[in-house]
Amino acid sequence: MLDVEQLLSRFNPATGEISGVPVVKRHLGDLRGCFADPKAYEAALAQSNPLLYSVAAVEPAGGDGDLHYGVGMIMPGKIGDEYFMTKGHLHSWRPAAEFYFNLAGKGMMLLEDEATGESRMVELLPTVAVYVPGHTAHRTMNVGRTPLTYLGVYPAKAGHDYAAIARNNFRCAILERHGKPELIERKTLPSAASYP
Ligand SMILES: [Fe+2]
Repeated sequence: MLDVEQLLSRFNPATGEISGVPVVKRHLGDLRGCFADPKAYEAALAQSNPLLYSVAAVEPAGGDGDLHYGVGMIMPGKIGDEYFMTKGHLHSWRPAAEFYFNLAGKGMMLLEDEATGESRMVELLPTVAVYVPGHTAHRTMNVGRTPLTYLGVYPAKAGHDYAAIARNNFRCAILERHGKPELIERKTLPSAASYP
């Protein structure tokens, strides 16, 4: 039987919440090692530990053909010149692709091919859907001045692998240059240094 309550999700694009679904919150202190400028990171964290993003995911137990989805919300802000962003991940089942849809605000995605290291900066705007192919690390950032909310839809068996990113981070960072987001290789940054 089709249970309509199971088929519907009621989400709030302003808050990133899905009715009845727990919200996972990530604060600045949870993202040590992610930002390109360790000094700016430690200085900001010494001041306060703000909320950077939240995710509410709907992942019912089911078959491999099921779809899972989550609503994310990223706050506006920067560490140095780098926008507030998610930790980023690969899918545990590498062939799993994902669709991202903007719900509110102005976003950017950093995509990195796991095999080649090739990086791309892709706009996450209200009028576009971003298709993240399998075998591609993805990180989302808020490049606007208001909260960014978005919906991600992925195969039930995708899973999340954060460890690979925590080890090596992304090859590139997206920094604000002359008021606009720019894709920059991390190793070329003067601030590239290890975290304490
Ligand atoms: Fe994903």
